[in-house]
Amino acid sequence: MTSKVDASERIPVNQPVVSEAAKQRVMQTLASGWLSGAGPVVAEFEQAFAACVGATHGVATGSGTTALHLALCAAGIAAGDEVIVPDFTIFATLAAVMYCGARPVCVDVDPRTFTIDPAAARAAISARTRAIIAVHIYGHSADMNALRELATDHQLILIEDAAQAHGARYRGRPCGGLGDVAAFSFYGNKLISTGEGGMVTTSNPQIAARARSLGDMAHRPGQRFCHDQLGYSYRMSSLQAALGLGQLSGIEALIARKRWIAERYKRGLGSIPGLRLPHAQPGVFNVYWMVAIVVEDGFPLDRDQLRDALARDGIETRDFFQPCSQQPAYRERFGDCAESPVTADIARRGLYLPSGLALTAAQLDRVCAAIERLAGR
Ligand SMILES: Cc1ncc(COP(=O)(O)O)c(C=O)c1O
Repeated sequence: MTSKVDASERIPVNQPVVSEAAKQRVMQTLASGWLSGAGPVVAEFEQAFAACVGATHGVATGSGTTALHLALCAAGIAAGDEVIVPDFTIFATLAAVMYCGARPVCVDVDPRTFTIDPAAARAAISARTRAIIAVHIYGHSADMNALRELATDHQLILIEDAAQAHGARYRGRPCGGLGDVAAFSFYGNKLISTGEGGMVTTSNPQIAARARSLGDMAHRPGQRFCHDQLGYSYRMSSLQAALGLGQLSGIEALIARKRWIAERYKRGLGSIPGLRLPHAQPGVFNVYWMVAIVVEDGFPLDRDQLRDALARDGIETRDFFQPCSQQPAYRERFGDCAESPVTADIARRGLYLPSGLALTAAQLDRVCAAIERLAGR
């Protein structure tokens, strides 16, 4: 979609902000001579990040997807197992399950929070089910108490995909420290970003040790270059860790900024009929990684028309994920399965608004004014 506004006035959906502290950490690390994943900086980042999410161990990786894969392998997920996942998530969540040779079983999500519906998850449990992945989508925690009850009842492993939930909390406890093991992404658009990167967090020492070994080629303890198992080269570099550490020291300000952006949108758009704005369940501290809205029938334009009209005005948005169960890469392996009604509906109606940390009040006002105009007000 071409825009009629000048490039300098365009509002991107996300824009990374790198603090001076983070730049300094990278320069110090460069000067130290540590570039690879060995050395003290990665270990420091692992400990600091894990502590920040209430976990005892962190294992840094090259991406969120590899962190998910490692978390699943370390939790013992293997060929023939089934893992329950929300149909509404990025395909990476399912890909990690498929890398293990296991089958992701997609279930529908809650229409307010877009996170996995615990009742739908319960209905999908079979004799082969080994784990559930809770995805804290757009910065809102899944219903972890209900999922923990389910996992306990059926002896399942509870895994968090916390890629979008740095700093989010459920009943006072941080996401990433609520399940048996969790995976984070530090991709360029995440709250803490190392460009590319990820981390497994857990308070289970066995899972942590397995993840650490498997992510670094599974060298035999005490006998480097001897391999009893097939491992992976999933390490994070020292420069990435330095960038992450530099940002982590200012995480509270980053979270406050995201919540300020969401509040500003809620104030600007809250009274427009036909727009469903982000929600926070009682007891959930939503970090609004992205401000995700749903265009209902009461709005004069449909989602595609709204997205295109905003793009012509220089305002970038992103459509919601498409249902994972309907993706060719899923169907060619596991066959056709019924649509999840809530996922299908929000995938057709949802988009997220510019939500980057660099947004100014004037830019947010411009987005709200453009949507108000399109709403005919
Ligand atoms: C919910 C979720 N899970 C997993 C990932 C995968 O992370 P990465 O892109 O770092 O591999 C992402 C990335 O955006 C994500 O949003």
